Amino acid sequence: MKKFKAKNFIKEKIAEIKKEVGSGKALCALSGGVDSTTAAVLAHKVLGNRLLCLFIDDGLMRENEARDVAVMFKARGIRTKVLAAQKEFFEALKGIEDPEEKRKTFRNIFYQTLAKAVKKERADYLIQGTIAADILETKKGIKTQHNVLEQIGLSPEKYGLKIIEPLRTLYKNDVREVARSLGLPKKLSERMPFPGPGLATRVIGEVTPERIKIIKRATKIVEEEIKKLKPFQAFAVLLKDRATGIVQEKRLFGDIIAIRSVESKDAIKAKVTKVPWKILEKIEKRIIKEIPSVVKVLYDLTPKPPSTIEYI
Ligand code: XMP
Repeated sequence: MKKFKAKNFIKEKIAEIKKEVGSGKALCALSGGVDSTTAAVLAHKVLGNRLLCLFIDDGLMRENEARDVAVMFKARGIRTKVLAAQKEFFEALKGIEDPEEKRKTFRNIFYQTLAKAVKKERADYLIQGTIAADILETKKGIKTQHNVLEQIGLSPEKYGLKIIEPLRTLYKNDVREVARSLGLPKKLSERMPFPGPGLATRVIGEVTPERIKIIKRATKIVEEEIKKLKPFQAFAVLLKDRATGIVQEKRLFGDIIAIRSVESKDAIKAKVTKVPWKILEKIEKRIIKEIPSVVKVLYDLTPKPPSTIEYI
């Protein structure tokens, strides 16, 4: 197989965006992850101030994500706005437990919000960080990735959007190489993947502000404790089931958190990380201490396949 050359790829994509957008304006939705950041920085090279980056704060991102992303983009001189939309997202997801219904509801509210922003900002194009793995999994019907529209018979025109996806032929490793080549900080180019529907995929059952608060805290603990192992992806999941515990000598039918850490190249297959026992113990102790409703912490031993990386 021919070796991927990030510099050539960047040159090609810059020429393509230039040709397609011409003197028009574009909006790029940011998630704080490698893919959307790389797509945005690439597009900014061509469009400069004709690009507006938008971080939709849906309340489902990691702690301080909105603030951190806005600060980083502004420091690079990229026009960026944060749109507060927590209320709309929680309202849309209320009462939904089925995984695919949750993903589709997220996708609908996400694109409705984006389409409104595109209109308001009078942008001609929407730039997205969709990558090859997103498209493959949606096409195979494994799960509905939030950013894949046309493969499932939903045309972007339904949302009144003209979409450009510069990274759609790449897998994660190549995206990271493009990110490095664009001079993005290591903290970003090597960042763990995080799904577009955010913590809504890390809560089994109904998504509520209270349950998101629990998973946000657990996610932070796992990321902090496992970071030095540099896994492909490591995270916490709040299960729908409950278990009996004893807290301050009283019975509590409390929450269960599962921890998952995997190694992978392309997210298509994944092996479980052999996390040292000491680190797992520390995670368990911190979760139990810092999140009072949790009475049980589990470590997931299943590779992909037969499991997928995320739980829904
Ligand atoms: P699965 O769970 O299918 O995940 O093994 C494969 C990779 O894709 C990420 N993922 C998503 N990324 N939107 C995204 O942008 C999504 O809807 C989505 N769902 C899963 C997941 O975190 C893993 O890296």
